[in-house]
Amino acid sequence: MKIDDLLRERHVIVCTGSGGVGKTTTSAALALRAAEVGRRVIVCTIDPARRLAQSMGLDQLGGEPKLVPLQSSSRSKPKGELWAMMLDMKSTFDQMVLEMTSEDRAEQIFQNPFYHHISSTLAGTQEYMAMEKLWELHEEGRWELIVIDTPPTRSALDFLDAPRRLTDFLEGRFLKLLMLPYMKAGKTGLRLINFGTRVALRAVTRITGSDLFADVANFFQQFEGMYETFKERSRRVRELMGARRTAFVIVTAPTEPSLKEARFFAERLKKESIPLGGLVVNRAHAVWGIHGLENPIAVADRVGPGILADALRTYASWRAVSLREERLLAGTLGAIDKTPVWRVPDLADDVCDLKSLREVGALLAAG
Ligand SMILES: Nc1ncnc2c1ncn2[C@@H]1O[C@H](COP(=O)(O)OP(=O)(O)OP(=O)(O)O)[C@@H](O)[C@H]1O
Ligand SMILES: [Mg+2]
Repeated sequence: MKIDDLLRERHVIVCTGSGGVGKTTTSAALALRAAEVGRRVIVCTIDPARRLAQSMGLDQLGGEPKLVPLQSSSRSKPKGELWAMMLDMKSTFDQMVLEMTSEDRAEQIFQNPFYHHISSTLAGTQEYMAMEKLWELHEEGRWELIVIDTPPTRSALDFLDAPRRLTDFLEGRFLKLLMLPYMKAGKTGLRLINFGTRVALRAVTRITGSDLFADVANFFQQFEGMYETFKERSRRVRELMGARRTAFVIVTAPTEPSLKEARFFAERLKKESIPLGGLVVNRAHAVWGIHGLENPIAVADRVGPGILADALRTYASWRAVSLREERLLAGTLGAIDKTPVWRVPDLADDVCDLKSLREVGALLAAG
């Protein structure tokens, strides 16, 4: 499948992959390209590099969608619209709490230091909020295509598991068990909490600087009754992810660990019946073979020292890199049949303005 077809047909595209492989770059490049093929598109980026954010007209307070001005040259006149925003995890969480409970109760929750901790630093919150934002944008109905960047998780699979982990956590099965004595007996109950737990909770107390025991107990009481809504919301998003007009795009580096991760992720998507749009092999080194020059080192030895021999040796080493990458990729593709693959070469400079995003988009479309 051509990437332009994907951009024309789908309603949601989720760019995922392991840390640092180019998810944010690919999301922005796909969104720009989609706008140029005529769609009204929004890209929700996560922690974009400052220069990239600026090039899309986003400042530090980029939590609201902004229309990106696209210069129209006669060659690439934009027919659609590109909107961009940055995920603001905390305000997305606040908004969700406000929708789920009364204003008074929400206010109490906002004042709880433990809520601050959860809504801004807890692992998994960012993933949950990215999905929540996706749902909000979908519900707003203003955009034909929504491109979602995903957080820099250690492993791409974390993205699929995080919402369940967060709801489990909020449901408090684990923590409630720990806190139960305290919730029932007030501070005297602390003695009932075992030593290891106390040490762990003290460490958190030091970090958050709050009376953690009381805050946590209050927090779970304040959240009482909201867990079901939380679960319901992640169920809806999960449904949207499995919809026919959704596609996941897995971004990978042409390296063994990254490709392995991409393969696991593709297998997981298949198991969960979530549509995979294709694989972007980013920062690839495609060096073509030259007919008659199958052994450049031998030729370099023959011609003797000099600029030609140096050039031949340089060519030989890059060609070897390219062949190794193709071998690794073939190994991965063997496991994910019929998945479209788009290669983007390792460019000389960072991708941090509209011009270079456009270039990445064109390379994706050509691949
Ligand atoms: N094809 C490319 N050629 C050159 N530089 C690239 C290319 N793709 C991405 N980059 C650069 O690599 C860096 C990392 O890219 P990006 O931020 O998109 O990765 P990411 O997967 O979103 O990272 P994180 O997991 O931290 O969110 C950026 O500086 C970007 O400009
Ligand atoms: Mg990123």
